[in-house]
Formats: sequence, structure tokens, C-alpha cells
Amino acid sequence: MRKLIAGNWKMNGSLAGNEALVKAMLAGLGNAVPAADMALCAPAPYLAQLQALLQGSAIAWGAQDVSGHEQGAYTGEVSVAMLKDFACRYVIVGHSERRQYHGETDVLVAAKAQRALAGGVTPIVCVGETLAEREAGQTEAVVKRQLAAVIHAVAHCTSEIVVAYEPVWAIGTGKTASPEQAQQVHAVLRAQLSAATQHPERVHILYGGSMNAANAASLLAQPDIDGGLIGGASLKAADFLQIVASAS
Ligand code: PGA
Repeated sequence: MRKLIAGNWKMNGSLAGNEALVKAMLAGLGNAVPAADMALCAPAPYLAQLQALLQGSAIAWGAQDVSGHEQGAYTGEVSVAMLKDFACRYVIVGHSERRQYHGETDVLVAAKAQRALAGGVTPIVCVGETLAEREAGQTEAVVKRQLAAVIHAVAHCTSEIVVAYEPVWAIGTGKTASPEQAQQVHAVLRAQLSAATQHPERVHILYGGSMNAANAASLLAQPDIDGGLIGGASLKAADFLQIVASAS
């Protein structure tokens, strides 16, 4: 399967800054076919800008969150239909920063994933353990519990999701999981997907957490690492393109 390299800009950017960043990425790609599928997940106010800049290019775009509700009196929420209006291909759901700082539960994350799929947008479902959970030997149990909630909600559509394994202790810390540590968890997730869908091989399982231009190749060489979800390094065109090139 072709790997998928997705950028997560988090709460960064500006109209002028985004334009410069995206134009630098497009210029860096030139007319070449990128070594991996690419996507950029931006804050909601910039989706129209990404659509205008990326339409017709090799880079897809998406959002960083979506409401679990279809529409109505949910002040501040953004629906999947709205994401669809701006031709989003992807939406991140259940990022650890949403789980940690916004109290998102497994059940809510599952509802968001289900809502995204129903609306025709591919959810990038994030799972991952904290440092305390890893040290307590709970890594497998935690990621399996988080993924199980989503599988339960999306049922026969499980093969259409993207999963991102993001150990919380590796996000934005400069501490990456070793390729072996990451592969071990990815294999657990693949086995769990195999029990839930006839096509587990169709599901991209991305690694995220301080993936950068220097460590991407060794992570992406692992058999069950199908791409990356890139935070900090997606804010620099050269670094992001280098990670994409590492996928070949
Ligand atoms: P990072 O973030 O690459 O900056 O560690 C990854 C993420 O949170 O998706």
C-alpha cells in the first residue's frame, strides 16, 4: 500500500504563513509524483484557503476535529457536512490533545469517527498511551480499548478508517518511540483490525510523535507502519517533504 504522510498543523498558522508554507511544499514537489500520499490538516478557518491552494494538486487536506452531532444547537462545533463543503478528505479525531485538554472520551471519539465516515470524510483515529500507562505496562490495553470503541461504532466500515498510533509521551517532546516500540504496537492494532474487518490491509496505521526528517525512514521501514501523522515537522516545508521522500 502507498504510505500516507499527514501533517497536523495544530493551532498554528495565519493566512500569510499558510500560503507561504503550502506554496513552498508545492514548489518542492514540482511535477513529480510524491513518494507517498500527502495530506495537511489545518484549523477550520483555513480550510477554504487550503482548498483554494491545493485543489488539483497531489496534496489532500482535512480538519483536526469534527462534531459528533449532525447539525443544530452546538455552539462552536463544526459538522462533517461543513468539512465536506470545503472538500476535506480527512479529519483527525481523538487526538490526545483533545482527549487530555477537552475531556474527549472513547465514546465521543467513536461518535465523531462514525459521523465523519457517514458524511464521507475519512477519520484519522488517534490512539496512544501516556507515559504513566506505558510504565505501568498498560500500553496494549489502552490502545486496544481506544480502537475497540471506534470499531464498535463504525462496524462494517472499519476498513475505511485511518488509525494513528501516537504515544502521548512522544508528542511534541522530541522523544520518538523507537521503530521497534512503534512496530510492536502497530502489530497489535493490525491484529485487532484483522478480527474486525476482512480487509485489515487496507487500513493505514500511521505513527505520530516527534517524527521528523531524520527518523522517518527507519520508522516507515517497519512492516506495519503505513505512514506518519506529523506535527511540528509539518510546519516546515523542507522537513515535511523530506519525510514524504523517506516513504519510498
Ligand atoms: P509532533 O506531533 O510531530 O509535533 O510530535 C504529532 C501529533 O501530535 O500529531
